[in-house]
Amino acid sequence: MEIKKVGVLGCGLMGSGIAQVCATAGFDVTVLEVEQKYLDKGFVGIEKSLVKFAERGPEKGGITPQQKGEILARLKGTTNKADLADCDIVIEAIIENVEDKKKMYASIDGVVKKEAIFASNTSSISVTELLTSVKRPERFIGLHFFNPVPLMKLVEVVKTIATSAEAYEAAYEFAKRLGKVPVRTSDKTGFIVNRLLVPYLLDAIRAYEEGVGSIEDIDSAMKLGCGYPMGPFTLLDFVGLDTTYYITHVMYDEFKERRFASPPLLKRMVMAGWYGRKSGRGFYDYADPAKPVAGKF
Ligand code: CAA
Repeated sequence: MEIKKVGVLGCGLMGSGIAQVCATAGFDVTVLEVEQKYLDKGFVGIEKSLVKFAERGPEKGGITPQQKGEILARLKGTTNKADLADCDIVIEAIIENVEDKKKMYASIDGVVKKEAIFASNTSSISVTELLTSVKRPERFIGLHFFNPVPLMKLVEVVKTIATSAEAYEAAYEFAKRLGKVPVRTSDKTGFIVNRLLVPYLLDAIRAYEEGVGSIEDIDSAMKLGCGYPMGPFTLLDFVGLDTTYYITHVMYDEFKERRFASPPLLKRMVMAGWYGRKSGRGFYDYADPAKPVAGKF
């Protein structure tokens, strides 16, 4: 089956990024949201990102102003599920909540053509649990993208025990056509990246709680000592503390190991509404986003 038309569910940070890379790779893309205002917000983000790529220019891996126009022309927003009917693959990137995701899949299962592949961008929810909501379990996979989607090269392609080899390989090839590097993984909570990344981020918080170093020093140490692009606290704020906190629950529930459990400080910051960069405060204060100030807790 040839993939030509892509549907994306959700136009938040991940959904808009996924829609952008699909349109950049030449696919026609329809993005579904519950309200027009969320589409408008997501499309503003896409436009901003494409402006950056156009400023860079094709010689440095960017795009021409003409290509920017063509990419935007391939993107369509909708609030009507019927517009997804002829999509060959539908990638879901809505809120990280099992029941909401299952409801969404169940509501489009009868609308989208039956040969289409359903993919979830979930980072921690069991793909197998999600596929119980549709009548095409063999055409259901995980396609896990990374933030910021237009820049991060990796896509985890997640196979469940019910996924057919044909649907899996089609999704794997599709990820390549997006210009990404796909890796094969199975439906074990956290897949490859979060299985290794989450304990590392949580350990950074524990190290801070134990007085090993300040937030800035731990960040500098991991950046300069290991060559990581961001230190753990900068990355935690970037990913979102609420998101990380949610992931700890799912992972701890699956493995029952302390390394996946939330440290007390993370829980308290989430309770206080300090979600990181998106809420203006996390391990750093972003009152001036160009000069984040590390907190002392
Ligand atoms: N679109 C297009 N271009 C963008 C962009 C975007 N959204 N964001 C930044 N850029 C461009 C900048 O304009 C800049 O371009 P020039 O070089 O032409 O000036 C370039 O990208 C580099 O950006 P910055 O100088 O601002 O910053 P940087 O060099 O630190 O790179 C980064 C930014 C790629 C995000 C890098 O810091 C990085 O790789 N950080 C780690 C991110 C990471 O680990 N993500 C995974 C999170 S985990 C996850 O997502 C999964 C999960 O399940 C939780």
